[in-house]
Amino acid sequence: MLAGGSGTRLRPITYTSAKQLLPVANKPVLFYGLEAIRDSGITEVGIVVGDTAPEIQRVVGDGSAFGLDVTYIRQDAPLGLAHAILVSRGYLGDDDFVMYLGDNFIVGGITPFTRQFHRDRPAAQIMLTRVPDPRAFGVVELDAAGRVAGLEEKPEHPKSDLALVGVYLFTPAIHDAVATLKPSWRNELEITDAIQWLVDTGHEVSSAVISGYWKDTGNVDDMLEVNRLVLEGLEPRGTVDDSCEVIGRVVVEEGAIVTGSRIVGPVIVGRGTRVTGSYLGPFTSIAENCVIADSEIEYSIVLRGASIRGVRRIEASLIGHEADVTLAPKVPNAHRLVLGDHSRVQISS
Ligand code: DAU
Repeated sequence: MLAGGSGTRLRPITYTSAKQLLPVANKPVLFYGLEAIRDSGITEVGIVVGDTAPEIQRVVGDGSAFGLDVTYIRQDAPLGLAHAILVSRGYLGDDDFVMYLGDNFIVGGITPFTRQFHRDRPAAQIMLTRVPDPRAFGVVELDAAGRVAGLEEKPEHPKSDLALVGVYLFTPAIHDAVATLKPSWRNELEITDAIQWLVDTGHEVSSAVISGYWKDTGNVDDMLEVNRLVLEGLEPRGTVDDSCEVIGRVVVEEGAIVTGSRIVGPVIVGRGTRVTGSYLGPFTSIAENCVIADSEIEYSIVLRGASIRGVRRIEASLIGHEADVTLAPKVPNAHRLVLGDHSRVQISS
């Protein structure tokens, strides 16, 4: 499980938090991956960690809460997906393994893929999906017979619209491939180059095109979209007081207080959060210990401890831990901003 890396596209949130811990429906995206791995019958997980190791170790611990036996593998710098395999060499030994990118989200889990791998046991098995703009992904070209012919990481001129999904299955043959790699133009050891080596040296590399739902949660739009999808499956629970109007699927966690508000689900409100005199619109996740007062928000993710007071209206936003969004005084008629580096603000006026 790869949980290192730097998360530049999610700055400034990722200056202070691991991107794999950003919540989807108030649960870290990494947890969905760990659960998918556990559900496939795998019990031993090595989590590759970088600078955000302490944070990840704090929430995942020894893995027993997931029914997993977790070992942490230190990667000193994010030098590529194949580098993550290199630093895991001792842990992996000569076992077959799954490599799962910690910010990937796959509906339906990975069990069908691990089963297929057990049955066929190719040197590598990859998953592909069609995307409108493949330039942000590893791109795979298939030959006329549907076999993997070529792989390229984030090509400027993609040869197909088939993107690599962030779940790979390998036999130990991948270690021979990784040993041959040189850093790419972006100074990473590329897993695409390693798989290309397997193809070129006559190893079997099988692929499956998945049509189900998959997202890399590497940017805000994708985070919001995955959050929407997971919230759609919410089972309503919890209570609000009589002064509220609730429509649709709404989860109010224990210890959250919701008064005088209109909530149109799907919405989740975390533990210890207070919502007063506000509108919470569809596809909104409010994490724990937040304050939402006299405000309107929808299609957004609000992280732990944030407060939003007197603001109409917030949409399609990701609001960081302990962030404070308030109404400005009437005079002067101005926006007052204290923004972290690489923050993005859109002001409607
Ligand atoms: O999401 C699918 C895509 O994932 C594939 O199509 C690409 O071929 C693959 O390279 C990868 O591209 P990304 O640009 O999304 O990779 P990212 O740098 O975001 O890293 C993916 C995960 O692996 C993320 O959780 C961080 C972690 N990671 C990354 C690197 C480079 C590490 O733990 N160590 C690393 O050295």
